[in-house]
Amino acid sequence: MTRSPQRPSGKRPFAKGRPPARKTAQLPAEMREMEVAIADVGARGDGIAFAEGLRLFVPYTVTGDRVRVRVAEGDGKGEGVRADLLEVLEAGPGRQTPPCRHFGRCGGCTLQQMDDATYAAWNSGMVRGALERVGLGEVVLEPLARTPAGARRRARFAALKRGKRVWFGFNERQSHRLVDLEECPILAPRLFALVEPLRAVLAEILPDGGDADVVLTDLEGGVDLLLVGPRSLDREAREALVAFEPERIARIAWQPTDRAAAEPVANRRPAFIRFAGVPIQPPPGAFLQASAEGEAALVAAVREGLGQASRIADLFAGIGTFSIPLAQQAAVHAVEGDEAAVTALGRAVQGLRLTVERRDLFENPLGAKDLNRYDAVVFDPPRAGAAAQAAALAGAKVPRVVGVSCNPASFARDARVLVDGGYRLVKLWPVDQFLWSAHVELVGLFER
Ligand SMILES: C[S@@+](CC[C@H](N)C(=O)[O-])C[C@H]1O[C@@H](n2cnc3c(N)ncnc32)[C@H](O)[C@@H]1O
Repeated sequence: MTRSPQRPSGKRPFAKGRPPARKTAQLPAEMREMEVAIADVGARGDGIAFAEGLRLFVPYTVTGDRVRVRVAEGDGKGEGVRADLLEVLEAGPGRQTPPCRHFGRCGGCTLQQMDDATYAAWNSGMVRGALERVGLGEVVLEPLARTPAGARRRARFAALKRGKRVWFGFNERQSHRLVDLEECPILAPRLFALVEPLRAVLAEILPDGGDADVVLTDLEGGVDLLLVGPRSLDREAREALVAFEPERIARIAWQPTDRAAAEPVANRRPAFIRFAGVPIQPPPGAFLQASAEGEAALVAAVREGLGQASRIADLFAGIGTFSIPLAQQAAVHAVEGDEAAVTALGRAVQGLRLTVERRDLFENPLGAKDLNRYDAVVFDPPRAGAAAQAAALAGAKVPRVVGVSCNPASFARDARVLVDGGYRLVKLWPVDQFLWSAHVELVGLFER
């Protein structure tokens, strides 16, 4: 088997842990391999086992598995230590055969070993666990909204050229090594169908040893392609892209680096999405909910949470996933930090009761005076959460607040701030749109 190459660049953080009872460096080499029983599956999707005074995190396991593992070397600074799964000796009750051949190596999925019922229960349990840790475990949890396989409409891939060959796929877990994709059951088939043609065009564009990321988004009008890297594109490379897949790809843009502005390379026809029937053109690489099913579940939960509110502020609004549907029933003020997203949303406001503001909500959250103009607020921050905005909301008088999050831990922290400020967390809707991963989205309704 050819060893997958390691990308020279890119910083993927290694899983962090918290203090174990003892340092693994003290374990003699012959004790590093051991048999353990999986007691639980933690918030990052790793099985948890206890042995030799250590708390072990064993990926790709289910509760009740008996497994043989090799304990990784650690310096004792984490919450536990990673142990690699060598063999399943006895399968736990929720185990299934993973549907994808790359599972166990590809960093995209962590939970394909769980059967469907176990997986769904784990997702809901993770949400409840995060809330319990901040003393809010009593909240009413709605049934988990599910997303089927083949529904992921947006993905970021890594590509690397070695000799004449281009490796294209996702990084291995906790590594810069690439898994060269032969299948991907989570991806929309229209995206996966472009993997092989992309290998061919990247072979023309990339220098030997060169790498790039490719963001594909499945939109109306065709696929939107954003190439991040290489640092320069010569004339031949541009020509190759201009001629690339004109039927299936609506728009191609290029960024030399993650921080650089996207430069159009081929604009064949509008690449757009509709929110509540209103077409909007996302800027290249813009945030978009990962699946249509996930988006629909989140919008339905937000709508239900907001009830009959007639003046709504949508904070961290992106390109209007919530603002546009909500503007059919209420006056909405959308606030977002990203300039390109604000411009795109601003172009769609005609005929809607929708205003748009660009604002950094970490540095400059909406204060109580502004917030009190609304009878409901939605906030949907990035993974880090909305600490400053939650503190401002806690000091305001808005009767209904709906929080949307892709990170139960930061949501729980913000929820605690709201509850300490006098809100009640009334209901939670968990939404699984990152199938077989440890990510779960949620919508929470707060009232005062
Ligand atoms: C999880 S996305 C949600 C977007 C939108 N609600 C949706 O569902 O499509 C988070 C959004 O927060 C924006 N954002 C990140 N940091 C921000 C900040 N400091 N101030 C304002 N917006 C920010 C991002 O640009 C992104 O659009």
